Amino acid sequence: MTEQVVLYEKKENIAIITFNRPGALNALNTEVNLKLIELLLTAENDEEVKVVILTGSGNKAFVAGADIKEMMTMNSMQARAHALKAKRVTDTIWNLGKPVIAAINGFCLGGGMEYALACDLRTASENAKFGLPEVNLGILPGSAGTQRLPRLIGLARAKEYCFTGGMFDAKQACELGIVNHVYPAESLMNETMMLAQKIASKSPHSLKLIKAAMNRGTETDLETAALFEIDCFSLCFSTQEQKDGMKKFAEKSK
Ligand code: CAA
Repeated sequence: MTEQVVLYEKKENIAIITFNRPGALNALNTEVNLKLIELLLTAENDEEVKVVILTGSGNKAFVAGADIKEMMTMNSMQARAHALKAKRVTDTIWNLGKPVIAAINGFCLGGGMEYALACDLRTASENAKFGLPEVNLGILPGSAGTQRLPRLIGLARAKEYCFTGGMFDAKQACELGIVNHVYPAESLMNETMMLAQKIASKSPHSLKLIKAAMNRGTETDLETAALFEIDCFSLCFSTQEQKDGMKKFAEKSK
């Protein structure tokens, strides 16, 4: 039986999606991208799933980038079609109605870093290495790395990483604000699960609307964003969680 290139596991109400090409440092090929979209949508459509974790199999890599061997003979039109398919992945992560956490357990390069940047939160093992090395291959990041990285760390710092293709470690990624937490490799998944469970205990409607308000709002002008936030806020008043949450508070203070 051939090994699945992406694995799916459900632990309580957390879905864990694992890139599974350890022999190629989990490089992203077409099969991986198609499967990843399918599994992200499985998590989206499963009401029991409250949070999704993306990680890599083996102890060496989260994802070492797009599969260079698959891309090397492409012409411009094929490369464009390939990048558009990868965009469907980042769009699916970004627009998923549930928080997505990247648990980065090693090399997180090129397309892998771009997928991680599309996630809501990132945790990393102490041995994780980050970078956008596309410039070394005579190309540039093709999954919005030139866009999401500067939004997180500022234009000048992001340009330096894109221009040099240099790698940086987990401590630096944390200082730059790319990564939320750094853990020893052996506790990365446990710690990430604890973070995921803490989030999963909250109202799924609130989480979905917080994500939408923050992702959409930070991409538009403040007035439009603030009004969109008000729409999200008022929508919560149609949920049971709002009624229960506020009633519980009022009863406690009586
Ligand atoms: N594509 C295809 N295969 C890859 C790969 C990639 N991105 N990264 C690693 N591999 C394969 C290697 O070819 C090797 O396979 P073989 O055993 O069959 O030779 C295996 O994974 C192990 O890799 P290494 O022997 O190179 O491992 P290492 O520890 O010596 O080096 C590394 C690790 C520094 C990460 C090195 O593998 C590397 O530089 N990889 C490429 C990183 C890169 O350039 N990523 C960007 C890709 S382009 C992109 O992502 C475009 C985009 O924006 C969409």
